[in-house]
Amino acid sequence: MSDRTSTPLTSSTASTASRQVGTSGGAAPVARLEHVSKSFGLGAGRVDALRDVSLDLHAGRFTAVMGPSGSGKSTLMHITAGLDQATSGRVLLGDTDITGLDDTQLTLLRRRRIGFVFQAFNLVPTLDVSANIELPFRLDGRRATADERAWIDWLVGTLGLGARLTHRPHQLSGGQQQRVAIARALATRPDLVFADEPTGNLDSATGRGVLDVLRSATRDHGQSIAMVTHDPVAASYADRVVFLADGALVHEIGPSTPAEVSAVMLDLERAA
Ligand SMILES: Nc1ncnc2c1ncn2[C@@H]1O[C@H](COP(=O)(O)OP(=O)(O)O)[C@@H](O)[C@H]1O
Ligand SMILES: [Mg+2]
Repeated sequence: MSDRTSTPLTSSTASTASRQVGTSGGAAPVARLEHVSKSFGLGAGRVDALRDVSLDLHAGRFTAVMGPSGSGKSTLMHITAGLDQATSGRVLLGDTDITGLDDTQLTLLRRRRIGFVFQAFNLVPTLDVSANIELPFRLDGRRATADERAWIDWLVGTLGLGARLTHRPHQLSGGQQQRVAIARALATRPDLVFADEPTGNLDSATGRGVLDVLRSATRDHGQSIAMVTHDPVAASYADRVVFLADGALVHEIGPSTPAEVSAVMLDLERAA
């Protein structure tokens, strides 16, 4: 594991490392965590899910967050997206410090600036594909502009959903449902899209199709994506992989093959 893109990740090297790896050097991060800790429960039952995590997510990048089950990946995503509150530390989305926002402000911010793709596709069963994709606009009390309409048409075409627009979720395969969820997450061109194990419920060929779309959204359209995964193949689609172990960020690497990602995971498990 002495490959040259490999960088030990401590709070003092984190920003240097991300500048080396990224193409957006110097640009303001789309999201920033500063010394974020999160505990659940009290006393003997207390779980420290995140321990002093500092991380910048840069615009236009596809970042994978890896780590074993229980290492804090979902907690990290929820806190960065304002779905949950840090116990200590600061979270910024763009230049908005979200740590002090109330629930209403957080809801609005998420609606306008963040997209989500989950392992369970979370489509609305009573709405057809078209209406599911347009849901973020409806929730925001507006219609897609002509420009956004063209973008949605492109997404629908690229995702192969053109013949499915009037179908409801139960009439679609798992892979098709996840592609609808991706179209919905990208439709408003959010500042940042979070994907939590987006291929977890898909067979590997279908999963690769979904990962291709996410990578293309970043490479060809400048979309910023943060994807939580424990799958080295999924992580190999990202252009940066950060590793969590027991709630701490312990390592990061640049673009890597599945074998390279697996080697880091193995090293971290041995060190644990
Ligand atoms: N709402 C919660 N209440 C209590 N403990 C939680 C809660 N959410 C997560 N945890 C604990 O925090 C740790 C990290 O969980 P999580 O972020 O879901 O890990 P991962 O996504 O990497 O599997 C685990 O020990 C988990 O049991
Ligand atoms: Mg999780």
